[in-house]
Amino acid sequence: MSLAELVVEDLRCLHKAELHLHPGLNLIWGGNGAGKTSLLEAIFLLGRGRSFRTRSSERLIRRGQERLVVFGRLGEPPAQTVGVQVSKHEGTVAKIGGAFVNSLVELSQVFPVQVIEPGVHKLVEEGGHRRRRWMDWAVFHVEPGFADTWTRYTRALKQRNAALRTQPDQAGVWDFEIARLGEMLAESRRSFIEALQPYWQAAVEALTGLPVELHYYRGWGQDHSLAEALEASRSRDLAKGLSHVGPHRADVTLRIEGRPARDVLSRGQQKLVAVAMTLSQLRFLQDTSGTTPTLLLDDPAAELDGERLRRFIEQVQQLRCQLVLTSLTPDVHLFGTPDRVFHVEQGRVQPVYNVAP
Ligand SMILES: Nc1ncnc2c1ncn2[C@@H]1O[C@H](COP(=O)(O)OP(=O)(O)OP(=O)(O)O)[C@@H](O)[C@H]1O
Ligand SMILES: [Mg+2]
Repeated sequence: MSLAELVVEDLRCLHKAELHLHPGLNLIWGGNGAGKTSLLEAIFLLGRGRSFRTRSSERLIRRGQERLVVFGRLGEPPAQTVGVQVSKHEGTVAKIGGAFVNSLVELSQVFPVQVIEPGVHKLVEEGGHRRRRWMDWAVFHVEPGFADTWTRYTRALKQRNAALRTQPDQAGVWDFEIARLGEMLAESRRSFIEALQPYWQAAVEALTGLPVELHYYRGWGQDHSLAEALEASRSRDLAKGLSHVGPHRADVTLRIEGRPARDVLSRGQQKLVAVAMTLSQLRFLQDTSGTTPTLLLDDPAAELDGERLRRFIEQVQQLRCQLVLTSLTPDVHLFGTPDRVFHVEQGRVQPVYNVAP
């Protein structure tokens, strides 16, 4: 799957932009503040329905405007169209093939996209929600029913939390449904992490040479069923008005010789570990579901020394996926000669024609 055409309206500094992308290597170059990351945000929004930098997609709307629109046409047959609109009043809505989607998760099945950007180390450094999202994005691809189970689980959990606060005697009503769906989610994630292990070990070894282990925590203790854990946690949940156990508390922990990776690794090493998480996932998806996502690389050389950068490039090249790379200069050949080059300046994008099409 690759993105052939991108149209952007009113996203950050981009007023109107139209790009015809190559299924191979695309380079977007321009000075600081020109709009390079904004273009990657537009592509990411098409496949995820959210920004990779800010929690609120509305912040992506160009100053003074009410809404932004991103439209994409995917290259391979069946040539599918995807559209996302973010408006100040109606939030985010998306269309696939002209029809509104029920859930933004559907976007990721049609247009799988991943990003490696200067903030990627947060995957290692910050709380579990980023790693849950990382894990779930892959599970959505390998298990088609996962998204639906997740939606139903989240709904039941909201009801339970509301009951814990307002109708304590009703909170237990939701436990059966939560336990049933929660066990299903946990099993899907467990089997993904297990299957990922050889890919993870190869990637982290190639990129860092460090023995970083990746462990799955399902969100409650190993010795009990979720039904038992919910029961045991009831009084604490009632006291706080919150459910403390379940797959919404799952995490993927990273350890080196028994110690948390975030306590041991330098910032550059954290970045490489996060890159290993992303690249191993992409390799896994290619092998198991034939999915070839588009990979966005925002200033990928930042913070990597020569040798680490060489290993990183090698790993990315093995993926053979569509790449969209940003750079401050046009003469970047990190990943070989670009198939298509775009220059961006003050939010305006121009294709550069003196490069082989
Ligand atoms: N909501 C917005 N409306 C209008 N302009 C915005 C908005 N948000 C950010 N900008 C501006 O968009 C410009 C482009 O930002 P972007 O992050 O895309 O630049 P960049 O080319 O990636 O730069 P760098 O090389 O520094 O990373 C910046 O000047 C920024 O101030
Ligand atoms: Mg940038």
